[in-house]
Amino acid sequence: MAISPSRPQTLPPLQRVLVVGSGGREQALCWTLERCPEIETVWVSPGNGGPFGRKQAIAETDSSGLLTLCRDEAIDLVVIGPEAPLAAGLADSLREAGLAVFGPSGAGAQLEASKAWAKQLMQEAGVPTAGHWAVASEEEGMEVLASLERPLVVKADGLAAGKGVTVADTVEATAAAIRDAFNGRFGSAGEQLVLEERLQGPEVSVFALCDGERLLILPPAQDHKRLLEGDQGPNTGGMGAYAPAPLLDAAGLEEVRRLVLEPTLGALRARGIDYRGVIYAGLMLTADGPQVIEFNCRFGDPECQTLMPLMGPELARVLQACALGRLDLAPELKISNRCSVCVVAAAAGYPDSPRKGDPIEDRLTPTESQQLFHAGTSRTAEGQLLTAGGRVLTMTAQGDDFDTAFAAAYQALDRIAFDGMQFRRDIGHQVRQS
Ligand code: AMP
Ligand code: GLY
Repeated sequence: MAISPSRPQTLPPLQRVLVVGSGGREQALCWTLERCPEIETVWVSPGNGGPFGRKQAIAETDSSGLLTLCRDEAIDLVVIGPEAPLAAGLADSLREAGLAVFGPSGAGAQLEASKAWAKQLMQEAGVPTAGHWAVASEEEGMEVLASLERPLVVKADGLAAGKGVTVADTVEATAAAIRDAFNGRFGSAGEQLVLEERLQGPEVSVFALCDGERLLILPPAQDHKRLLEGDQGPNTGGMGAYAPAPLLDAAGLEEVRRLVLEPTLGALRARGIDYRGVIYAGLMLTADGPQVIEFNCRFGDPECQTLMPLMGPELARVLQACALGRLDLAPELKISNRCSVCVVAAAAGYPDSPRKGDPIEDRLTPTESQQLFHAGTSRTAEGQLLTAGGRVLTMTAQGDDFDTAFAAAYQALDRIAFDGMQFRRDIGHQVRQS
């Protein structure tokens, strides 16, 4: 079984933190952690061209390289951002070396890394989710489809960078998606599929910070998965977000705690998994109540960029307390009740084949209520900022209402330019008056 550090009686000093990852999510985590007065240095690895965190170019799956960095720099807390190193067991290797790590073990990360495993766990725990069939061959899939005679949602079992899901409208489209997956469309991630009943309703993301036993729920956020305005075009990692999403009020969040998060944490514990990290519940709010569409084992990107500016500097201690299994020792996390929003600027060709190497012109001087979080960016030796990935930048802003926050985010984006830059002008259409 994976090792977890024993639960201490008091929280040890917290001066040096390492954030693992290279996206906008990790820049936002660095930004918040750097505001904690007791923290001397926040490291980020491998990082990007962004200004937050002290960059060290060690790959996120290079556990021995990261361990050496942690030892050399006397790191007190490691925060792992993305799912791939979590699923590969990075948290386990670092914990075995005695480090405090915010992020679940490889076993816990199956919540995201195997949809069939997550569905089984939800079923055992009585968590509301769409009916499903796990199938391991095209024949098996076609048999299920023939017996049901209705369109289904087809999901690759493994990690597929947000591209493994087909929401089919017809039985024929369902059959085609099953065939494609077993013909290798998702590589090894598609060797097993989950077929699911199709649900209807708005979607919302809920994040719980867990210490293995207890959990702390953050304000709900809404993501925009489609590339184009009007929620058209291909699915992406996310083109913008806002929080708090009024779709779930305090009573709604309590219901999610009771029906989804607590039973899930309990079921993980029952499997011997001491889950210390984020449970991200992707929910659909159906006429029958909230249903889990997917679980992830980390913060959402770009939801994290929207949430981090709302967090007080106590967040650092809260993450440490989760990592040490003692959320009860953490100071109260102060969360601003302002509206926070973000808009993603993506590269030409995103999401299929993003172009890299376009110079980025940045004429922005952000105010206290605006943050520019780099994602796919790099810097040349001469200091020129270039595009280096699909989602290039996240422009984040806060305001007393959503209209003010979005106006600030879009005004700021007008001061950023690169060739082929694409972004949606209608992020937050659900909550905007103008
Ligand atoms: P995922 O990659 O699991 O987040 O799924 C991508 C998108 O597919 C989700 O954001 C939903 O919009 C949609 N989706 C997934 N499962 C279902 C379902 N059971 N019913 C309807 N839509 C779904
Ligand atoms: N924004 C969706 C995700 O991080 O999976």
